[in-house]
Amino acid sequence: MDVESRKVIVIAGGTGGIGRHIVDGIVAAKKYTVKVFSRQDPSSLVDMTVKGVIVVKVDYSDRDLLVKELQGVHTVIVTLISLDDSCVQAQINLLNAALKAKVKRIAPSEWTGQHDENTVIELYRRLKVPVREKIKAAGIEYTVFMIGLLMDYFASPQTASKSIGSLVIGVDFSKCVASITGSGDEPFCLTRADDVGKFVAAALELDKWNENSGIVGSRTTWNEIIKLGEKIRGTKFHVQYTCADEAARLIDTMTDNVLEKLIQQVYLGIVRGEFDFEATLNNICPEIKPTTIEQFLMESWADYKG
Ligand SMILES: NC(=O)c1ccc[n+]([C@@H]2O[C@H](COP(=O)([O-])OP(=O)(O)OC[C@H]3O[C@@H](n4cnc5c(N)ncnc54)[C@H](OP(=O)(O)O)[C@@H]3O)[C@@H](O)[C@H]2O)c1
Repeated sequence: MDVESRKVIVIAGGTGGIGRHIVDGIVAAKKYTVKVFSRQDPSSLVDMTVKGVIVVKVDYSDRDLLVKELQGVHTVIVTLISLDDSCVQAQINLLNAALKAKVKRIAPSEWTGQHDENTVIELYRRLKVPVREKIKAAGIEYTVFMIGLLMDYFASPQTASKSIGSLVIGVDFSKCVASITGSGDEPFCLTRADDVGKFVAAALELDKWNENSGIVGSRTTWNEIIKLGEKIRGTKFHVQYTCADEAARLIDTMTDNVLEKLIQQVYLGIVRGEFDFEATLNNICPEIKPTTIEQFLMESWADYKG
């Protein structure tokens, strides 16, 4: 396909942790013109421009600029951080500009499980659900990409991705310890960031998007992950379990550390099934074989000399 007739895909926040993997997935497909919206100067993002990505410096409060930059764009994929209200407004401004510019479809910054207005995760209730509702009400085609937990975190304190930092979640494979909310038998999904990029690129080929697109590397449980860790590290893990009611009570006493509270609520969300969903996009794209948690843990920990 000649470059002029390629569909233009915008990744807003494509400079970030998940965003970079999605940009790479779409660039690798070699079928699209990829534009990244960033608040940074393009000259500071040479690593992206050398790959052929067009970096557009935007101010998410400048609606006229957003409308101008979205002219002729087919799809907008949003991967902005969602830790405070500024990103809700940035997404709503993007949505309004997309409607004005007649963009065909949009994917909000979800990239997690299936969370409705009753989700136990406060930040998602405040920052993700309202954006999704606005998009639904606007009548534009959209999808909510669900990925579960990022598998990449399970290499922590090592890093498995250049753009995703180390964050020990639930199990510390370096110390052979785990701290689990619930029984450890509740199923949840997790996906490697590179695979998220591949699936999103494949989703761009679909004529019509479903409201939800489930991407799953593995559907597993904490107890299965611990068992794999014990096999790979060759030692029994020390595991501490906290029941869901006690975890909820502890969360109520937490005030200041936003990230720590988010993680504790994610654990509770797992117990309540919020990270367990159908692999709908895998089913549509069976040619993509995502990394499983067993493959990922072998890759990360089999040769670990800690
Ligand atoms: N399922 C999981 O395990 C998991 C893990 C991590 C994240 N997530 C989700 O993935 C999405 C992206 O998260 P991330 O960790 O990849 O984000 P991130 O790297 O922290 O940020 C993504 C981009 O957002 C832009 N940004 C930051 N603050 C902003 C602001 N105040 N206004 C406008 N733009 C801002 C930045 O781009 P510029 O500086 O270039 O403008 C940044 O590169 C979020 O929805 C998050 O909830 C899911």
